[in-house]
Amino acid sequence: MSNMTQRRILVTAALPYANGAIHLGHMLEYVQTDIWARFQRAMGHEVWFAWADDAHGTPIMLHAQKQGISPEQLIEQMAAEHQRDFEDFGLSYDAYGSTHSETNRALVELIWSRLNDAGAVTRRTIAQYFDPDEGMFLPDRFIRGTCPKCHTSDQAGDSCDACGASYDPTDLIEPHSAVSGAEPVLKDTEHFFVSLDAFQQALSEWIHSGAVQTEVANKLNEWLGDRLRDWDVTRDAPYFGFAIPGQPDKYFYVWLDAPVGYLASFQSICEREGLDFDEWMAPTTNTEMHHFIGKDIIYFHCLFWPAMLEGAGFRKPTAVHAHGFLTVNGAKMSKSRGTFIKARTWLDHINPDALRYYFAAKLTPSLADIDLSLDDFKARVDADLVGKLVNIASRSSGFVHKLGDGRLSEALRDPDLYAHFLAQKSAVAEDYDNRNFAGAVRRIMTLADEANQYVDQHKPWQMAKEAGREAEVLAVCTQALNLFRVMMTWLAPVIPTTAARAGEFLNAPMDDFHGPDTPLLDHRIEAFQPLMRRIDPAQLEQVIEASKASLG
Ligand code: 2FM
Ligand code: ZN
Repeated sequence: MSNMTQRRILVTAALPYANGAIHLGHMLEYVQTDIWARFQRAMGHEVWFAWADDAHGTPIMLHAQKQGISPEQLIEQMAAEHQRDFEDFGLSYDAYGSTHSETNRALVELIWSRLNDAGAVTRRTIAQYFDPDEGMFLPDRFIRGTCPKCHTSDQAGDSCDACGASYDPTDLIEPHSAVSGAEPVLKDTEHFFVSLDAFQQALSEWIHSGAVQTEVANKLNEWLGDRLRDWDVTRDAPYFGFAIPGQPDKYFYVWLDAPVGYLASFQSICEREGLDFDEWMAPTTNTEMHHFIGKDIIYFHCLFWPAMLEGAGFRKPTAVHAHGFLTVNGAKMSKSRGTFIKARTWLDHINPDALRYYFAAKLTPSLADIDLSLDDFKARVDADLVGKLVNIASRSSGFVHKLGDGRLSEALRDPDLYAHFLAQKSAVAEDYDNRNFAGAVRRIMTLADEANQYVDQHKPWQMAKEAGREAEVLAVCTQALNLFRVMMTWLAPVIPTTAARAGEFLNAPMDDFHGPDTPLLDHRIEAFQPLMRRIDPAQLEQVIEASKASLG
């Protein structure tokens, strides 16, 4: 590590619901989070990536019922399946918990009692749709009926797919329960509400502290301009969640305990690693807490969550980083078109690092949606990773073994060129830190072009045919392999598995961003192994076909 202060960083990705498979829309966010976490580690910072399954809520309860298993069995199966996908995609989280854990329950109860003490909790009776056949209150999504605005039938209780209108479930024409089909009746129930009024000032300061992107701040200011509605945090039994202490048949709404799951997962890391959880959570801490999320859950993370933390006397997030949605081939992922692609389906057919690279090449700090065009994916991976980057090593390594007995030369042939590469380090690092991965990738690929030009210009394969030029050939290849190492090390947060293999071949670790500050000279390398292959169009077809088949 150079002369910089070490940052202490807690980083999270949104917690996936424990009732469905991970798909590429999820992976966009997890890859973004992982690249950032890996980059910060490579810079020598202390990084903890705390993560978990989001295990509570009506959909999970009903999903388990349908399968004839308990919610506990369901969430256990899903947690295992999710983590297999994540490991195979190279995600470097430090803990994977569940919001349905005793650690989380204790933290939820602590925060709840502090919110009560702070006078932030109110209660009132509301009327809600109730399914008389199932004996349960219905979440908006589980009520269907005809849109009050455009009269399209079979729309959900909160908004219409056809005309985009949002409304209250009681506005629906001919409502019926999506669970039983019965006509719902209005029934009174007493709920708890977290009042956001008292946090208005703190939220406004937090928003202006640089914690969110400008686009997000603008949206939040709009919301804050109107009086914030109290947040309904109660759900009635039957519900899969945490019971509200002392309140029979009342449960915490899943969105109350979900973000607390970040802290519970981190607390388990603290116990394991001997970190001081209270110090990290104190309002005056100089540690950082970064949440990566999709733009659909900004309200929860940028209003409810900081308010909860403030009310509980905890630190607020250093930053919430929101990203756009993933489209595939220019459109919303579609089951019938085979573009609703599960993480596992991708892993069955295509190299995960290739997708990580493609996502990185498109990720910026903006909220714009990101398109995975499969043709463009192939073109990009083939051209950049195989054609430019790996090519440098594959063209140079053979001569080192043939002419140098596997040892690099003792000095750099062109130190100025090497210095020119290193001069890009701070700009690349800054791009990573700012989540402008597209910028970092562009800089590295520009260098890859220059490295290839260098090899083209010196033509080691021609020199090698001429007697007496062995040392020259070796010097050119030593130079090229060192340039390759610079680029691969800087790209390691994006393509960690490929980089690790390159590290084995070069006999040099890839996990220190500053490692290439010192070139590899008079250094033994191993036999080159192919690091990445071109994408076969057949693989892409298989992914589409398998996605159609698996989802009907
Ligand atoms: O939107 C979702 O998929 C939620 N499961 C995200 C929860 S993030 C955090 F609050 F736990
Ligand atoms: Zn409508």
